Amino acid sequence: MRTEQMLKPGYVLVGGKRTYVIEKILGSGGFGITYKVKSRVQLDNILTDVSFAVKEFFPDSCWRGSDSTTLIAPPTKQQEVGNGIKDFVNEALRLQRACHLNSNIVNVNEVFRANGTAYYVLEYLEGGDLRKMVRDNGGNGVSEQQMLNVMLPIGRALQCLHDNSMLHLDIKPDNIVMRRNSSGDDNEPVLIDFGLATHFDKKGAPTTNTPTSGISSGYSPMEQYAQIKRFDPRLDVYAFSATCLYLLTGKDPDEAMYLPPNYVRDVIPSGVSEEVICAIERGMSMRRDERVASMKEMLDMLGNENPPEIQDQILVQPYQQQSAYLPDNVYTQLDNRPRRLQQPTASKSSKKSTLKVVFLSLAIALGLIAISSLVFWAINDKPKKEVVKKRSKSNPKPQSDGPTGDYEEDAMAICDRFIYLAYRVKSQDDINDLSDEMSEMLQEYENYYQEKGEYQEFGKAFDNLDDDIKTKMEKAKKYVSEKESEFSQ
Ligand SMILES: Nc1ncnc2c1ncn2[C@@H]1O[C@H](COP(=O)(O)OP(=O)(O)O)[C@@H](O)[C@H]1O
Ligand SMILES: [Mg+2]
Repeated sequence: MRTEQMLKPGYVLVGGKRTYVIEKILGSGGFGITYKVKSRVQLDNILTDVSFAVKEFFPDSCWRGSDSTTLIAPPTKQQEVGNGIKDFVNEALRLQRACHLNSNIVNVNEVFRANGTAYYVLEYLEGGDLRKMVRDNGGNGVSEQQMLNVMLPIGRALQCLHDNSMLHLDIKPDNIVMRRNSSGDDNEPVLIDFGLATHFDKKGAPTTNTPTSGISSGYSPMEQYAQIKRFDPRLDVYAFSATCLYLLTGKDPDEAMYLPPNYVRDVIPSGVSEEVICAIERGMSMRRDERVASMKEMLDMLGNENPPEIQDQILVQPYQQQSAYLPDNVYTQLDNRPRRLQQPTASKSSKKSTLKVVFLSLAIALGLIAISSLVFWAINDKPKKEVVKKRSKSNPKPQSDGPTGDYEEDAMAICDRFIYLAYRVKSQDDINDLSDEMSEMLQEYENYYQEKGEYQEFGKAFDNLDDDIKTKMEKAKKYVSEKESEFSQ
């Protein structure tokens, strides 16, 4: 975008609710310009200046008229630009409703027409984007917990968009910005930039007049390099996973089409849990049919403990105006309250799991071990020693190397392997394979420790596993049970 096309600092933009004074340019892309603005706002009996962000629809092909403000489209593009304005307004109105359903979606204040184009006004977010978060960390990746603190709320926001037939299509570190709370901490991630966001109809076809296309290297999946014709949450799942990876490594992922096998496992720092590695690995599968299918599944794999309530649907009447040149200042804000299309329905009572074999071997082994360790503790009435959580230095490998002679490490390896396989279950055959492999693995380890005469110590290591890994095992088991009931339907 040429800088001479941007509104200059000091320019007064007249909106529907108030006027805005341009302070500076925050960014510009092929379709628009984002400004930081100030506006005088009355809070009770006090007038105060408040910052906002304003987005202006201004495609690359256009320029300003002699007044240096009005948008002029080339004669051959007038229809296209007119349609673009309508789409921009519709997306803004949809976003205005979406932000009421989820607090991690940027708040839209008003949408209005001026200068022959359209604008919408957003809350101004002070905290900086995820690139700043990494910069503030010395350019290094952040911890797994910090990554989850940011990405779980963003995942829930995305799920809310998907539930309302929208795809964001531009999830990346630049488009997640922190909102400061009243105490000044940067503690709430917010999803911004709905420039590529697309709404789809019931049949899964885009409802926009001008299907937007765009990619961000490292974050867009391969299929986004072609035009998007169908609603598919896996497009956002890929970009979401790539953003999780960015936060953990501090580096942009390689471009989707050049990802070597085992890429995620190779670049991810040691110490990251197996569930998170699995989730990102499967979220960034090059092939769509191997990718995590939905944000719900992705969040489950990442250990989401705060599933969203069943969401209302967003209903927006499409912006019907046919003319590309509406009178300026048409105030288009709709009623702020989301309208209900659908009453929440009680969740289907989960079908009783028919899972028999999968956990049998593990349960028997752990059961035997637990019993034998009880006997062991009855004989040796000693206080339990503190067990230091052990993790192998590198990330757990997809294949086991066999018993090491270190009970704690081996017990952990068995659990890690189980978790790794659990989140890869995509069919009943996978469940059967998982069951076979776990039985074999347990047998091998049991034989080894029996021969060494250290079977009970090995059992004790399971008892003493960290609560954290026990919870993760429970979650992985639950995940496989749910999958099994799904396959048996
Ligand atoms: N509401 C906002 N508060 C603070 N900064 C914002 C806000 N919206 C956008 N920005 C900043 O402006 C940049 C450009 O805006 P964005 O909506 O991402 O448009 P684009 O990437 O298409 O130019 C963002 O990367 C961000 O740094
Ligand atoms: Mg952006």
